[in-house]
Amino acid sequence: MSEKETPKPPKTTFCNDIDLNRWREYDNILTDSLWLFPHRMKRGGHQLDYHGNFIPQIATQLFERYTKQDEIVLDLFLGAGTSALEAVNLSRRLVGVELKPELVAYVRDKIPPHLLESRIRILQGDSARPATLAAVQTELAAWEQQFAQFLVLHPPYADIIKFSDRPDDLSNLNSVEAFLDSFQAIARQGFKLLAPGRFAALIIGDKYAHGELIPLGFWCMERMNRVGFKTKAIIVKDIQGNERGKGRASNLWRYRALAGGYYIFKHEYIIVMYKPAARKR
Ligand SMILES: C[S@@+](CC[C@H](N)C(=O)[O-])C[C@H]1O[C@@H](n2cnc3c(N)ncnc32)[C@H](O)[C@@H]1O
Repeated sequence: MSEKETPKPPKTTFCNDIDLNRWREYDNILTDSLWLFPHRMKRGGHQLDYHGNFIPQIATQLFERYTKQDEIVLDLFLGAGTSALEAVNLSRRLVGVELKPELVAYVRDKIPPHLLESRIRILQGDSARPATLAAVQTELAAWEQQFAQFLVLHPPYADIIKFSDRPDDLSNLNSVEAFLDSFQAIARQGFKLLAPGRFAALIIGDKYAHGELIPLGFWCMERMNRVGFKTKAIIVKDIQGNERGKGRASNLWRYRALAGGYYIFKHEYIIVMYKPAARKR
């Protein structure tokens, strides 16, 4: 092979496997701040089996952009396990925490058993509790790691969907302030568990209450800033591909919007944050 034909070694950054020598070939990786997904991906074991799960494409985009193969994703609101399935599909490892025991069992059933031991660890617990932090650290230590390399936070959108009656469920708190305080406590745990210099994503939408828009997305972002995260990007994602058709209900919402002077939510946010790298002494 002549010198001219020698393939260049891949040129990658610290946080993903994207070969920048071939940057034109990555049409699948989004770099715009508006994400339009007309349909939920149904391949790779994914299904709309949980009211409130995000579409798998969110995990695909974030994991490809912010992790390398075999790195560890931490999801502190695992839900029905969309990020766990996508970690399997993309050969990442994952530690997930979910409050509802029946959901933990359900997600474990979806993961190939041999991977549950070796690459996907699913814990039941309240992500705000110090005991949960310690349990995640134990899982990381079993992989000889101190930190996860990416953090996913997809909390309840306050009380829009009530996930359980448990007092430690963020969808079950009696005020937005209480929700934000609990969210901040969980974000702080995530901050401690994330490797310095690495990224986190907050996935959340806003809500209306008593005729007023409650900007949960920006307020949660601000709570993450308070515990030390810096904001990298605010992505607006079309939610129309998320859900089953609402039929007659959508007419009702349109009537209410026209009558009440407001706009029907068609978007949510994916807010990308990072934990600053440790300063060299
Ligand atoms: C929006 S859903 C996450 C959905 C998930 N991303 C998926 O795709 O399936 C939020 C989840 O957070 C859980 N949750 C609420 N409070 C929690 C807490 N304190 N600790 C851990 N999980 C909690 C709820 O049970 C619910 O399953």
